[in-house]
Amino acid sequence: MQRSLIAGNWKMNGSKKNLSDLAEQLFNLKCDADVVIFPPSVYICDAVEAFSGASIAVGAQDVSENSRGAYTGEISSEMLIDVGCEYCIVGHSERRSLFGEDNHKIAGKFYQASKVGLTPILCLGETLNQREKDETLDVITAQLNAVVEYTGKFFPSDLVVAYEPVWAIGSGKSANTDQIQIVHKYIRCKLREKGLSAKILYGGSVTPENTKELLKESDIDGLLVGGASLDAKSFVQICKLA
Ligand code: PGA
Repeated sequence: MQRSLIAGNWKMNGSKKNLSDLAEQLFNLKCDADVVIFPPSVYICDAVEAFSGASIAVGAQDVSENSRGAYTGEISSEMLIDVGCEYCIVGHSERRSLFGEDNHKIAGKFYQASKVGLTPILCLGETLNQREKDETLDVITAQLNAVVEYTGKFFPSDLVVAYEPVWAIGSGKSANTDQIQIVHKYIRCKLREKGLSAKILYGGSVTPENTKELLKESDIDGLLVGGASLDAKSFVQICKLA
């Protein structure tokens, strides 16, 4: 069985104080999962330093779809590697809905990350409206295909996908394990058809209370944690349960 991956996405939250609290509790953590935290970009260097020598990786919440140049405000995949990042999140639903990122743009970001050896976590997920119209698997297919086709030979062998139903994010209402298993099995099958395999994480209102139930499912290979990753105690608890 592969090791689970527990990822903590701070979004636009947190501070240096949060980081030192987390480092204190997480630094010597013994757990059976791989752990990565995604602080806002201004804290990435501090996080890399805080976890230097520990088995906790650091990632970025976003990356540019361009490699360099006149793109004020953007951060390239090479820069992320340069400062010690190992992962980056690509296509989070907040980037899709609030910043107008479409499948093509997300594919460009995924490509840039893969090209330099950064592990992208590709987020996929349907809105409530799409679920109610029974479009979930079609949405997932379109989101996944856009990236696979664009990335071509740079497709990473250590692919990580996060299924995050938009209606479950920050709502306090996680998807149930049957709903998640259907989508995860589907993603696995679609990738297998293309000769690919992936770690498939679930994200959306993950807490220490539902971690065990989620991770006991055969197709849930890890968790992408938002709100609960901001509280050092909760995040450590989730990691220990994995
Ligand atoms: P949440 O966020 O755990 O606060 O629901 C998950 C995410 O957006 O990755």
